[in-house]
Amino acid sequence: MKILYFTSTGNSLYVSKKIGGEYYSIPKLLKENSLDFEDEKIGIVFPIYNGGVPKIVEEFLNKVNIKSKYIFGVATYGAFSGSASAHLLEIGSRNGFKFSYIKEILMVDNYLPGFDMNKQIQGQAKKKIEENLMIIIKDIEAGNKYIKKGSNIMEFIRKQLEKHYNTNFEKNFSVGNNCNGCKVCEKVCPVDNIKVEHKPVFKNNCQHCLACIQNCPQKAIIIKKEKSEARFINENIKLKEIIDSNN
Ligand SMILES: Cc1cc2nc3c(=O)[nH]c(=O)nc-3n(C[C@H](O)[C@H](O)[C@H](O)COP(=O)(O)O)c2cc1C
Repeated sequence: MKILYFTSTGNSLYVSKKIGGEYYSIPKLLKENSLDFEDEKIGIVFPIYNGGVPKIVEEFLNKVNIKSKYIFGVATYGAFSGSASAHLLEIGSRNGFKFSYIKEILMVDNYLPGFDMNKQIQGQAKKKIEENLMIIIKDIEAGNKYIKKGSNIMEFIRKQLEKHYNTNFEKNFSVGNNCNGCKVCEKVCPVDNIKVEHKPVFKNNCQHCLACIQNCPQKAIIIKKEKSEARFINENIKLKEIIDSNN
């Protein structure tokens, strides 16, 4: 089994590791132009952005060649799954591959302008992450088929959010004087959009993933309207694994 994943704060990497098999980072595969995959089971694991599939994952799926009898998707999210399953299904069929199974799993919401990370971390027990993940793991092991039915209203909302996609997202970031130039932000950025001279300088290809902000050891990068100074990395994942995934 092979899993192709994208992560900025570790939730999707944790899920990928728990499902098992070999796992490969989508940003790295894109950088290496490594686009041919064949196995009995192949999975795509990613966070939901704006009720759908993140742009970097869609870009990858538009390019990749997948040969498998059982293709599955697992989307991690924090509050509102929107139209992610239907979006993934549509991207697959547009690119000639058919998903047998797509499931969404509720985890910590890492969207800083929407949520206080401390409250999210404290509230995660209610989300029954391990229990729900176990169901997904057993489904995949058994080769079960399931795809949540999409709805017109959810797809409408997703498309509206997509229309208002902010291409100047990095303009919302500022860097405090406590930045010590450690370059972690540069290393966790999945698209090499950051260059640290003394402080990070942002180019204009931001994917909105917030990895630079969440993983900064100094908490030196701030985003407008963030709900608190707290930051989040999945408790089972080390910073080095996020760097290795995205660098
Ligand atoms: C730009 C952005 C958009 C997001 N949009 C949604 C959303 O529409 N619905 C939702 O429930 N969570 C949303 N989230 C939260 C993530 O999907 C969630 O925290 C995910 O598990 C993070 O996975 P990761 O740790 O692997 O990056 C968003 C996060 C970011 C950074």
